Amino acid sequence: MKSIILAGGSGTRLWPLSREKYPKQFLKLNDTSLFQDTVLRCLEVSDISDIFVVTNESQKFFVIGQIEELGHELPVENLLLEPEGKNTLPAICYGMKEIYRKFGRSVVGIFSSDHVLDTGAMETIASAEELASEYLITFGISPTSPQTGYGYIKPGEALGVGCKVSEFKEKPDLEVAKKYIKEGCLWNSGMFLFDTDVFFNEMKSNAPDVSDAFEKSEDVQEIYSKVPSISIDYGIMEKSDRVATVKIDHRWNDLGNFDAIYNEFDKDENGNVIYNCDDMLLDSTDNLVYSKPGKIVSMIDVNDMVVVDTPDALLVCPRKSSQKVKEVVSALKDDE
Ligand code: GDD
Ligand code: MG
Repeated sequence: MKSIILAGGSGTRLWPLSREKYPKQFLKLNDTSLFQDTVLRCLEVSDISDIFVVTNESQKFFVIGQIEELGHELPVENLLLEPEGKNTLPAICYGMKEIYRKFGRSVVGIFSSDHVLDTGAMETIASAEELASEYLITFGISPTSPQTGYGYIKPGEALGVGCKVSEFKEKPDLEVAKKYIKEGCLWNSGMFLFDTDVFFNEMKSNAPDVSDAFEKSEDVQEIYSKVPSISIDYGIMEKSDRVATVKIDHRWNDLGNFDAIYNEFDKDENGNVIYNCDDMLLDSTDNLVYSKPGKIVSMIDVNDMVVVDTPDALLVCPRKSSQKVKEVVSALKDDE
């Protein structure tokens, strides 16, 4: 199986930890970054020469350097640089075209680089190869709350190791998310398994403008100047009637915002996650605190907050407002 790793996002909901020039997938919150963890998982099912990374000029040295740190070398032709980010559909299409050019018809796993996932899940992903010869496969996760940042998958009739998808809805609002959970829907994990032929066919019928941009030119600059910005979820998964899902029962988390980071890390006896600094917390519970080694952060009677302190920016917000951090980033960009 071949693999495509998507590593071109900027992770704005983790500002000020994640920056345009140093996005979250390359941050080392543990010994390895989320990007390195993704590469290690892909190596379970693909050789390094079968792994393609879609990123951009400003992140390419992170990609090359962090793969080298793992003791591997990514072939130069497997490093795909987008002239500008046009969201996940063009990024995946670029990867699929290059894989088709190098290997002909192939089954390809698509992986985000911002996930925490148990390596055991790769076996489930590989088990869907047969189903992928007819369907676009999306991997589903049992939901734990009505998150609005995810896609929702409604499972239909059984099909081999999975089932047909009767409805796919990307990022519904809270009320709709609650309804989907009641109806037994799964979260879309953001990982997919696509056969090149099935993918190109479904793209032609559901996203003809993206398909055309890639068909009409071989020049990446020209393609990207014309191709619309759209995610795989809105562009194909919501529209295609050839989608099947396979459930993943392993630990999975999209570390997309500070609340998700809070949930992923060990807590002290008061439910606080203290990262990278010393603390003096008085009657304060369930907070996420990040600063720098040697700095003392003190909080009194503060609950359920996020405090992220970096050399040039400080963020303070309630944990439940973590999704809104991206609005600060767009406002800062508008001010530039
Ligand atoms: N190369 C490239 N170019 N990569 C990109 C681009 C781009 O323009 N935009 C995003 N990515 C990468 C991100 O770095 C990330 O690894 C992955 O593609 C997914 O993008 P996100 O922006 O993180 O998507 P999301 O989390 O909002 O939503 C997706 O994932 C959810 C689960 O994590 C959707 O697939 C949802 O349906 C899904 O539930
Ligand atoms: Mg994400």
